[in-house]
Amino acid sequence: MSVSPATATAPGKTILLGEHAVVYGRPAIATPVWQTVASATVTPLAPDSGCVIVAEDLGETIRLHDGAADQPLALVTRLALAELGITQEPDWQITLQSTIPIASGLGSGAALSTALVRALFAQAGQIAEPQTVSRIVYESERIYHGTPSGIDNTVIAYGTPIWFVRGQPAEAFVPPVPFTLAIADSGIRSPTKETVGDVRRGWEAQPARHEALFDAIAAAVHAGRKAIAAGDLALLGALMDEDHALLAQLGVSSDPLERLVTAARAAGALGAKLSGGGRGGNVIALVTADCQVAVEHALLAASAVRVIGTTVTPVG
Ligand code: PMV
Repeated sequence: MSVSPATATAPGKTILLGEHAVVYGRPAIATPVWQTVASATVTPLAPDSGCVIVAEDLGETIRLHDGAADQPLALVTRLALAELGITQEPDWQITLQSTIPIASGLGSGAALSTALVRALFAQAGQIAEPQTVSRIVYESERIYHGTPSGIDNTVIAYGTPIWFVRGQPAEAFVPPVPFTLAIADSGIRSPTKETVGDVRRGWEAQPARHEALFDAIAAAVHAGRKAIAAGDLALLGALMDEDHALLAQLGVSSDPLERLVTAARAAGALGAKLSGGGRGGNVIALVTADCQVAVEHALLAASAVRVIGTTVTPVG
């Protein structure tokens, strides 16, 4: 075990194609957003200090032995220590920092938990396999989202683009041609639990209609994977538009999100869609070098509170 500080990071994330249908067993594609990161540092403390989690951006300090069972950071700390075979509370301070905007659909909670778990493994001198990290972080995601598909914790733990099917090992994918996304935060807070719950009620009331929409989304995701593999960004953009229209039919778009996707397309984006739970949160637009600045300005003019650009590169 190290006596010097151990540090680890984790990226934000965005869902490229397939949200909501992924809850019903269809595939989805997600990518990390390394332009925003969470980091965790574990510093040894004096004997008998116990384990303290200091989440600077959340303004929270949690003593592990006081942390409630459903406190996400305390939960992942306990699970990681158990995984490491550490049965006695260690005398460690875990300091968390993040540049990922909180509650904005970029996976800030899962990224903080991921950085924390990785830093604990590093402090214990053990390798943190992505599957193990993802499994532990999934437990904290359940506190926020109920029964999440697991796509957020998986893409963040892998730190590479992934092809994801619920209950199956994720497949890391490497795009042969880089592509750039403009990620626009609508500034509207819309809990994923609510939109996921509404889609479930819709599916229960009209199963055949919803299954058909999920199948159509799955077809767009499969075609999107092929478009990425072929470097056909025009097709990928068209598939993002199609996926967005299907998500709107599922009832998870909103007037502000429609204004954002329309503005992005009008400014030259190859495609645009809501990303994540919907109604609020993020819109993503596929941009070229020629239109990136215009699209970013158009998104801000259409009331986005923030736009983050991320390029998904062949080297991850
Ligand atoms: O709202 P986000 O960005 O955490 O994305 C949720 C994705 C959903 O497919 C809507 C839910 C899930 O658990 O996969």
